[in-house]
Amino acid sequence: MKITIIAGSNRENATSTMLCRYMARVLEEMGCSVNLFELYHHPLPLYAPKVECADPNVRHLERIVKEADGVILATPDYHGSLSGVLKNALDYLGFDHFDGKIVLSASSSGGAVGVSPLTHLQTVVRNVHGINCPEWISIGGEFRRFTPEGEPEHEKTKERIARALQYFLRMVQTFAK
Ligand SMILES: Cc1cc2nc3c(=O)[nH]c(=O)nc-3n(C[C@H](O)[C@H](O)[C@H](O)COP(=O)(O)O)c2cc1C
Repeated sequence: MKITIIAGSNRENATSTMLCRYMARVLEEMGCSVNLFELYHHPLPLYAPKVECADPNVRHLERIVKEADGVILATPDYHGSLSGVLKNALDYLGFDHFDGKIVLSASSSGGAVGVSPLTHLQTVVRNVHGINCPEWISIGGEFRRFTPEGEPEHEKTKERIARALQYFLRMVQTFAK
């Protein structure tokens, strides 16, 4: 299965990005081919409707989301919502990229759980005709700490991620075109 992960932070080594890198490794161990797109390393211009955009990062993002069987979106919790850079990236995408695909949402919050950015992400997914995975991943508070090797410090976080990814992958396999 081809999985594309979009890391929606504009901060180097953000915890939401560490989470994406860890998920990429776990998915590869599960036999997936993974494309990880980090918005910090591949910044996109501000979306402007009806303006043809030849930016190579935008073209690359469009291609890897279109080719994916399943997509993971990860965001830091900014004021109870998704980051501006992730929303900007999603504005370049639409039905052509998401229709009928399973999408897993993930967030990193200062507080314990980031329900509100996850539900906001799921609203965007519904509007681009993606299928929201009923499982989601929220890392918050001390549960968003990673070791220098990029592993979640807490065993419970690892277990949660493993369970959500297994569920996500089963759905991707069921719905893959
Ligand atoms: C602009 C801004 C707004 C934030 N708003 C919230 C918030 O509403 N709720 C919360 O729990 N944490 C909030 N935080 C804290 C971040 O969600 C938290 O530090 C998170 O782990 C950042 O993710 P990152 O490591 O991927 O950058 C905010 C941080 C920033 C910079």
